[in-house]
Amino acid sequence: MVQLQDLCIEHTESLKNALIKIDDNAQGLLFVVEQQKLLGILTDGDVRRSIISGCDITGSITEIFNKNYVYLHHSASVEEIQQTLNEKIKVIPLLDDEGKLVDFSSYYRLHRTPVLEPLLGGNELEYVTDCIKTNWVSSQGKYVQQFEQTIMEYTRAKYALAVSNGTVALHLALVSLGIGPGDEVIVPDITFGATLNAVVLAGAKPVIVDVEPNTWNMSIELLIKALSNKTKAIMPVHIYGIPCNMPDIITLAKKHELLVVEDCAEALGSSINGQHVGTFGDVGTFSFFGNKVITCGEGGAVIFKSASAYEKAKVLRDHGMTPGKRYWHDVVGYNYRLTNLQAAIGCAQFEQLETFREKRSNIFSWYEKYLLSSGYFSTQQLPENYQSSLWLFTAVLKSTCLIERDNLISKLAKLGIDSRPIFYPMSDMPPFKDYQSLLVGNAKAISKRGISLPTSVYLSEKEVKLISEEVINCIAGFNSFKGMVKSNA
Ligand SMILES: Cc1ncc(COP(=O)(O)O)c(C=O)c1O
Repeated sequence: MVQLQDLCIEHTESLKNALIKIDDNAQGLLFVVEQQKLLGILTDGDVRRSIISGCDITGSITEIFNKNYVYLHHSASVEEIQQTLNEKIKVIPLLDDEGKLVDFSSYYRLHRTPVLEPLLGGNELEYVTDCIKTNWVSSQGKYVQQFEQTIMEYTRAKYALAVSNGTVALHLALVSLGIGPGDEVIVPDITFGATLNAVVLAGAKPVIVDVEPNTWNMSIELLIKALSNKTKAIMPVHIYGIPCNMPDIITLAKKHELLVVEDCAEALGSSINGQHVGTFGDVGTFSFFGNKVITCGEGGAVIFKSASAYEKAKVLRDHGMTPGKRYWHDVVGYNYRLTNLQAAIGCAQFEQLETFREKRSNIFSWYEKYLLSSGYFSTQQLPENYQSSLWLFTAVLKSTCLIERDNLISKLAKLGIDSRPIFYPMSDMPPFKDYQSLLVGNAKAISKRGISLPTSVYLSEKEVKLISEEVINCIAGFNSFKGMVKSNA
């Protein structure tokens, strides 16, 4: 967060120091002070114009700052501040009775944009209330069954099980298919750690392969190279909702008699030629964490092709208890059940899935219009006839952008805009470092320069435009800052 001292500069300071400070605070201006008394405001434009017109970068800012500025008393109400803020005035100094600078306010201090927030404006409250009023709060109750039924109808899967989260969905999928010690499972280098955690927890060994530079998904070419006589399964992850090349993966799996577990945690609504992801492989898993396409708070699901894997998973999900014989165990199992309360939220969310999809589609097209048109970013390629879940808008900074991705994230945070780095390569992290890997540097390159931007379904075109403008300003500002400091060094 930006502090008052990040915005203040003494009136005797140099243009160069002002430029560095403005670049650092990402607010586009400074308050010029003399021992805490506000003398004026110096904008990014003031400094740049004076350097372009020939002023020495080491010269003082005294002559160029603006002495006519808008300010408010520090006791001003939020309404007063909101009325004063506009497209031009984004930061307001707050003064005491003696004209001393004691605080500031800004659009971003009053308004933070999270990267992904659920929208719970449908029947969530009514259905959860129903659970409470009827006392069905644990894992039995009508919403769990209704949720599973809805998942089957939506994905056109034969069998579905609701579970506690997307991680245990993966673990349950692996163990119900008999994948365990001695087996190798091929996984992509870019994914969330849960994918590999589940393989390790099942007792199998993940074999990491690099991703394709255009789709950011598992490379089929490297996947072929990674096959060994221990390979038991392939685990494609439809990263950021872009489907992997499932037709090719399935052909390969059939040829080598391998199992396929699709990690669709981010891909509810993703399909290839109208076929939902998760139904190509033997098993598909979903996550309904708070930031996913739809949410249960925490939640997950597994969809199955075969009745036998489904039946086995159903027992394992429920402590391994033998159906029809309460408290009797023929196998060791888990408690991976979803509660009726969580499923109630999930059912209400499912009712809004198509509306959410339309909203996400708008958000993606606004980013295309206002951000991608800048030419600063490249994005994942969506092959023809592939449909994405449009989960989270994510793009990679091109090499023409001099700003480091983490610096951009921190500048955006100072503007109240929440963003995230792309997942780190799995092969870089301590618990997965030893797993045999086929890497060519693609995941590393994507991960180093990739950033996810706010994609909550309630965002308006105005908000996406503003976010895009701020991102572009940060990049362009940094490029020209680097240029100015370098040419005047
Ligand atoms: C690719 C991927 N796999 C698995 C998971 C794990 O899901 P959960 O957080 O519900 O356990 C997530 C998300 O969190 C994910 O993004």
